[in-house]
Amino acid sequence: MQSSSTYYEKVAAAAAAIADSFGSVPDVGVILGTGLDGLSKAITVEKELSYSDIPGFPESTVQSHAGTLLLGTLAGRKIVAMQGRAHIYEGYSSKEVTLPIRALAACGIKTLIVSNASGGMNPAFRSGDIMLIEDHINLTGHNPLEGPNEDSWGPRFPDMSDPYPADLRAKARAVATELDIKLHEGVYISVVGPNLETRAEYRMLHKMGADVVGMSTVPEVIVANHMGVQVVAFSVITDECFPDTLQPISIEDVLAAAARASDPLSKMLKALLPRI
Ligand code: HPA
Repeated sequence: MQSSSTYYEKVAAAAAAIADSFGSVPDVGVILGTGLDGLSKAITVEKELSYSDIPGFPESTVQSHAGTLLLGTLAGRKIVAMQGRAHIYEGYSSKEVTLPIRALAACGIKTLIVSNASGGMNPAFRSGDIMLIEDHINLTGHNPLEGPNEDSWGPRFPDMSDPYPADLRAKARAVATELDIKLHEGVYISVVGPNLETRAEYRMLHKMGADVVGMSTVPEVIVANHMGVQVVAFSVITDECFPDTLQPISIEDVLAAAARASDPLSKMLKALLPRI
């Protein structure tokens, strides 16, 4: 059903533009969010494509997100990497935000490695720490699967019992242990933002069962799961969200904490890639 929908055509047009420019697309995609942007320097880039040259790709309006799709090699593995992403708080719908994931899945990626920045609510977490996302809560009030289902992409009611497959998480944990990098594991809750939370909201979100809170990732992961793409996701804790001792935080603080995690994250990713 719905093969002729406008959204389907938009995804197909984006996928065609990527395939035209890159030729064959590798089976691993990476979203270099806040915290992994530094990793782009480690990629041996063969080709790059500006989001503005891919029809339907939302352009990020956030200064820390570049907006370039890279084709290259990292740790001997061919990858396609999104340097930057769009967010719902920028005014994009969850369907627009996730169009790049749909397009990459249509191009044939089988694994998606995601990174993001988040506020840590688990009292054991510190700014600059990294958490492997074990599970998520969608609190955005949006769902990228709303509307008619495109059956050729995936089922109407996709299963979400293990959206970050346990075997991939085990590989990520093994890599962290080998490299002696501290890696937490826990639940990410997504909100729209863009304001950070009040003390009462952090208290509530933590009680709801989340360890960290952020403004991205969950729509992308829902779409990846819908299309049968397996996900492994790392969250960089950029601020400590403990209601009783909460301090004001600026975007500069967030970026500085993310930069501290860039090196260990890059090392883990390089070690993980050949095992995927
Ligand atoms: N809240 C929501 N999103 C975030 C935060 C936060 O405290 N830190 C980084 N992204």
